[in-house]
Amino acid sequence: MRERWEAATWLRIGRRYRAPLLVERFPPEVPFGFLRQVLPTTEAVDLTVEMYRIPPSRALEILHGARAVAEAELASGSSEARTSELEVERDSAEELGRAVARRTQELWKVGLCLVALGSTRPRTESVRSRLAERLSALGFRTRVPRYEVGSALSPSDLAGPAPRPLGYWQTLPTDGVAALFPFGEESIVEPRGILVGLALSDASPVFLNRWEHASQSWGVFGTTGAGKSFAAALLMLRTRWMRPEVEVTILDPLGEFAEFARVLGGSVIEVAGGSAGRLNPLDPVTTGGDRAEKAGRVGSMLRALFPSLTDTESAALDSAVTRLYERGPAVPTIDDLITECGRDGYVSDRLPTLLDVFRTGSLQSVNGPTTAGSGPGPVAVDFRGVPDDHLPFHLSYVLDWAYGRLQARPGPKLLLVDEAHLLTRHASTTEFLDRIVRHVRHFDAGLILLSQSPEDFLGRTAGRAVLRNLYATAFLRLPELSSEARTFFGLTSAEAEWLPNARLPRDAGYSESLWRIGDLHLPLAVIASTPEYEFLTSTLGRHPDGPGDALRTGVL
Ligand SMILES: Nc1ncnc2c1ncn2[C@@H]1O[C@H](COP(=O)(O)OP(=O)(O)OP(=O)(O)O)[C@@H](O)[C@H]1O
Ligand SMILES: [Mg+2]
Repeated sequence: MRERWEAATWLRIGRRYRAPLLVERFPPEVPFGFLRQVLPTTEAVDLTVEMYRIPPSRALEILHGARAVAEAELASGSSEARTSELEVERDSAEELGRAVARRTQELWKVGLCLVALGSTRPRTESVRSRLAERLSALGFRTRVPRYEVGSALSPSDLAGPAPRPLGYWQTLPTDGVAALFPFGEESIVEPRGILVGLALSDASPVFLNRWEHASQSWGVFGTTGAGKSFAAALLMLRTRWMRPEVEVTILDPLGEFAEFARVLGGSVIEVAGGSAGRLNPLDPVTTGGDRAEKAGRVGSMLRALFPSLTDTESAALDSAVTRLYERGPAVPTIDDLITECGRDGYVSDRLPTLLDVFRTGSLQSVNGPTTAGSGPGPVAVDFRGVPDDHLPFHLSYVLDWAYGRLQARPGPKLLLVDEAHLLTRHASTTEFLDRIVRHVRHFDAGLILLSQSPEDFLGRTAGRAVLRNLYATAFLRLPELSSEARTFFGLTSAEAEWLPNARLPRDAGYSESLWRIGDLHLPLAVIASTPEYEFLTSTLGRHPDGPGDALRTGVL
C-alpha cells in the first residue's frame, strides 16, 4: 500500500500531494461555466461537486426562513449599505420561493472542493493559491481546510451528505448549480459554421452555422462607431465563402454598402435618384401574386406616406386600392391608382393634391413599372437623399419588395437591414419588418438587423416580436441599457455594466461584444483577418454626399 501522510493543509499519498480548497461563499451572480475560467489548463486540479436535491417543501421552509430573517433585521434598522443588501436578500428569497412553488427552480445542497495536485509540496500549494486568487477575483470566498483535510477529501457517501468541514455545504438554486458545470459551452463550434469571433476569455474561436437553427436571424446592437456595419459585412463575407450561393440583399439607409455590393459583383438600387432602376411599390409580385394581400400592404404604405389622412380620405384611398387589385391591370402602377381614385364616389379634394407628388413631385421616380433588375451578387438598396417625410413610405415598399425576393428565390438568402431603428419609428415599417422576421425562416433566409439600441424595438409590440425572433443577438458597446432591456435579454447586472465599457474598434482594432446565442452569453472579440480588414475598409464607407443628420438619428 502507498504511504499516506496527512498534514495540516495537505495530504500526500505516495509521491502525490493533494491540496484542497473549499468554496465557502458564492458571489451573488455567477457567470455560467465560470469554472472553466478558473481551472488552469497546464496544471492538474481535481474538482468535486457534490449535490443533493432539497425536497420542495423543505426548500420553501428554508426560503421562508431566509426571508423572515432579512425582514426582522430590516425592521431592527441597519446601515444604508446593509439595508440594501438585506432588501436584495429578502426579494431574492421571495422570488426564488415563487419559482420553487412553480417548480421552475429547486434548491440544492452543494459542496465544491478543488484539489491542487502535484509532485512537490511547494508547487501544489502554489497551484492552490493561484486558484484561490482567481476565484476571489470573481467574488468567491475560499478557505483552506486547516486540520480538516481528511474530511474535505473523503469520498462522498452515496447514502447522503458525508461529514464535511464547516462552511463546505452551500444552498444553491438550480441556476446556480448549472453555472458550476465547467463544460458549459463557453465556446461553440458548429460544423460548417462561420467564425463569429474569438472568446475574450481565452481567444477560443466561436463558429455558428445560422442555417442549422429554427431562426436564422441575428441582431447586432451598439453605439455609433462600435462596428455594427463592419461586423455585418464581415459575417456576410464569411457566409459567402462557406456558401457562395447565398443571395444577399442589403437595406442601406446611409449608402455605406454600395461599393461593397458592386465589388462583389452585385448592384445598387438608388431609391431617391432612381438611376439604377425603379421598384414599383404596387407590383403584386411581392406577395407572390396574392392581390388582396398586396392591396392591404399598399394601404399601409400609403398611410405611412400620408400620416395626415382623415378617416374618410383613408377609406376612399383604401377602396380605390381594393378596386385596383380586383379589376385593374395585372401589374398596376401608381398612375393606375391615381386614375382609380378619380373614379366614382370621389370624396376628397385633398387626395388628388396629395397624390400629385407621384406625377409631378418628388416621388415621380416610383411611378411606373419595376425596371431595377436584380442580377447575381448582392443587391444594396441605397436610401441616401430620401427626404425624411418620405422615408417610411420608401422603407415600407422596399421591405415588401425584399420580402417578395426572399420568398420567391430558391436557396439560402440573407437580408441585412442597417440602421434598423429607422423602421421602428413608424407602425407601418415595424409591421413590414415583423412580417419578414416571422416568415423568413420558411424561405431559407436569415436577417441581420443592425441598430444602435435595442430600446428602439422594445417600445412596440411588433418590435418586441422582432427581438424575440432573433436567434443570436450581439451587443457591442452600448452606453446604457434600461432595466427593461436587461430583463428582456436576461443579462446579468455584471454583463449590463460591462457593455458601456466594451472596447471600440478605433481603440482596440476589433470590437468587443457580448453575444447572446440561444441561452448562452459569450463575450467575443469580433476580429477581421488582414485581408478581410483591407477589403472591408476599402469598400465600406459613407458617401461624402450622404444623408443629413436627420436620417441618421431617425427623425422622421
Ligand atoms: N471589428 C473591427 N475591426 C477593425 N475595425 C473595425 C471593426 N469594426 C469596425 N471597425 C472600424 O471602425 C469604424 C466604425 O465601424 P462601423 O462603421 O462598422 O460602426 P457602426 O457601429 O456601424 O457605426 P454607425 O452606427 O455610426 O453606423 C469603421 O472605420 C470600421 O472600419
Ligand atoms: Mg453602421
